Amino acid sequence: MNDTVARTDADAVLRAIRTRRVVRALTAEPVARADVAAVVESARFAPRAGNRRIHLYVAVTDPALLRGLRMVSPGMLQVPTAAVVICVDWDRARRYGFAPTHPGAHVDVGTAAATMLLAAHALGLGAGPVTSFSSTAAATLLGLPEPVRPELIVCLGHPVSAQTPPLRVRPGNAWADVVRWDRGAATHEAAAPGQAAQGPRHAQP
Ligand SMILES: Cc1cc2nc3c(=O)[nH]c(=O)nc-3n(C[C@H](O)[C@H](O)[C@H](O)COP(=O)(O)O)c2cc1C
Repeated sequence: MNDTVARTDADAVLRAIRTRRVVRALTAEPVARADVAAVVESARFAPRAGNRRIHLYVAVTDPALLRGLRMVSPGMLQVPTAAVVICVDWDRARRYGFAPTHPGAHVDVGTAAATMLLAAHALGLGAGPVTSFSSTAAATLLGLPEPVRPELIVCLGHPVSAQTPPLRVRPGNAWADVVRWDRGAATHEAAAPGQAAQGPRHAQP
């Protein structure tokens, strides 16, 4: 099997990347278990430091547990019908030679989360990451042993058709302000030659 992305698939992949948004308005319809499993499974293919598996993914579908998670998560603005809690097993991380100060474990949480958000979007689900929560309370709620720390929650659900607008882009924070070519100095040519500086997205991120 050829594992490379066919050139003809590139548009679909890029469209998924460009149209993914954090979805916070969700219906009460439960997410099918197979879809939750597919979202979790996508993290398997996320890049990770040293190709080490030091994470634990806790899929949560029990409404009582979801309510509990929400109670300890001030940043969980949505009411998800499923969630995946990405945890780091810090004992395992240490055994693999990652000191707690090593950025790899946290970067890997990000790559896994980004991959799962895209997978959820591809499946037609609404998804959003949450880091504003009490890790200790979430660990207690989910019965996690001490070295396993919840780091990020990917909320899942079915999107309602009308979504809240994305957070405003502040002045100086446009895409063209944060892209450089070859050197760190600002130029007017932020985008690749021949490309628009702003990607063709339905809302300005
Ligand atoms: C590390 C990280 C933590 C985040 N934490 C939260 C959070 O606690 N609550 C929330 O509603 N959104 C959270 N977000 C979502 C961001 O607000 C969102 O990605 C950003 O506003 C851009 O919107 P977009 O992803 O729809 O383009 C987080 C995103 C990241 C990458």
